[in-house]
Amino acid sequence: MKKPWLKIKNYLLYDAPLVMYFYNKGYADPADPYIAATYAMIAAHSLGLGCCMIGSIVPFLKSMKKLKAKYNIPAESKDGIFLVFGYPEYKFQKAVKRTFAEVNYT
Ligand SMILES: Cc1cc2nc3c(=O)[nH]c(=O)nc-3n(C[C@H](O)[C@H](O)[C@H](O)COP(=O)(O)O)c2cc1C
Repeated sequence: MKKPWLKIKNYLLYDAPLVMYFYNKGYADPADPYIAATYAMIAAHSLGLGCCMIGSIVPFLKSMKKLKAKYNIPAESKDGIFLVFGYPEYKFQKAVKRTFAEVNYT
């Protein structure tokens, strides 16, 4: 059986060939990066690319001033979300069926 995950060097970003970071600063709403990232994800999928949100790095970014400077991320940026992109290995015929946890009508 193929075990592609054993070859991964960057476990946080899955060795993605493209990573985008959506962030906010100042008086922007905390939800802003997620909204922009969601649109980017839809655009990526419509182009046939694979795309996945990655939030695990964001808490560490806050103290990494050198890393922020390297990638021109403003030091005062607060909330953010990463998107990793790639070429999907598998073409799915059907989508995974998902349900909301709960919907209440009043
Ligand atoms: C806000 C947000 C942050 C996420 N952060 C991570 C992450 O840091 N690492 C990870 O492996 N998956 C993360 N995920 C999960 C993946 O993006 C993806 O939703 C999950 O693998 C399910 O994929 P599927 O929807 O194609 O089944 C995150 C999802 C969301 C919505």
